[in-house]
Amino acid sequence: MRRERARVAVLLSGRGSNFVALAEACARGEVPAEIVLVVSNKPDAAGLERAHERGIPAVAIPGKGLPREEHEAKVIAGIEGAGAQWICLAGYMRLLSEGFVARFPHRILNIHPALLPSFPGLEAQRQAWVYGVKISGCTVHLVDVGCDTGPIVLQRSVPVLDDDTADSLAARILEQEHIAYPTALRLLLTRPWRVDGRRVIFA
Ligand code: GAR
Repeated sequence: MRRERARVAVLLSGRGSNFVALAEACARGEVPAEIVLVVSNKPDAAGLERAHERGIPAVAIPGKGLPREEHEAKVIAGIEGAGAQWICLAGYMRLLSEGFVARFPHRILNIHPALLPSFPGLEAQRQAWVYGVKISGCTVHLVDVGCDTGPIVLQRSVPVLDDDTADSLAARILEQEHIAYPTALRLLLTRPWRVDGRRVIFA
């Protein structure tokens, strides 16, 4: 029996490597999903070009100078217009409002380049390196109104090596992000699961 493919919108602000990892996993049939729209709040985001190359509809909806509600209303109109049921944040450097999150309950995912709850926010890889942790990694989580605070779906760890720089650590974490994000989406789409308090429980 062929499984119905979930329609996914990806929101990004930059390079778009996590978007590409998701798109390629979908194209290989590893994730029963189709990316139907890419939205960037930055018109010059390389991720938009990477979507065009793949024939995936991609739009810039600049946030600069717009009140947050107005910007979000445009983004939501795009997502709903594309018929997306799921939203993957992939380096989307804006916090979502309560209204936005409530509109897609437990259907918004984010990837963060640290083992949450350690090192939320910006430059997480550098924060971890400066702190001197011996293990870091990445986290895929459901999005709530906090900054990198939603229930955790999956984490992957990487060792921090003595001769690492913040950049070499970030590169090693990124490799794991590209595995973690498609894996998490596949799990959520193919396995029964529920949220129990802060915990995402797979049956
Ligand atoms: C990724 O490392 C992602 O985890 C991070 O931004 C980068 C985007 O790279 N996101 C955050 O820090 C969110 N708090 P990409 O554009 O190549 O996917």
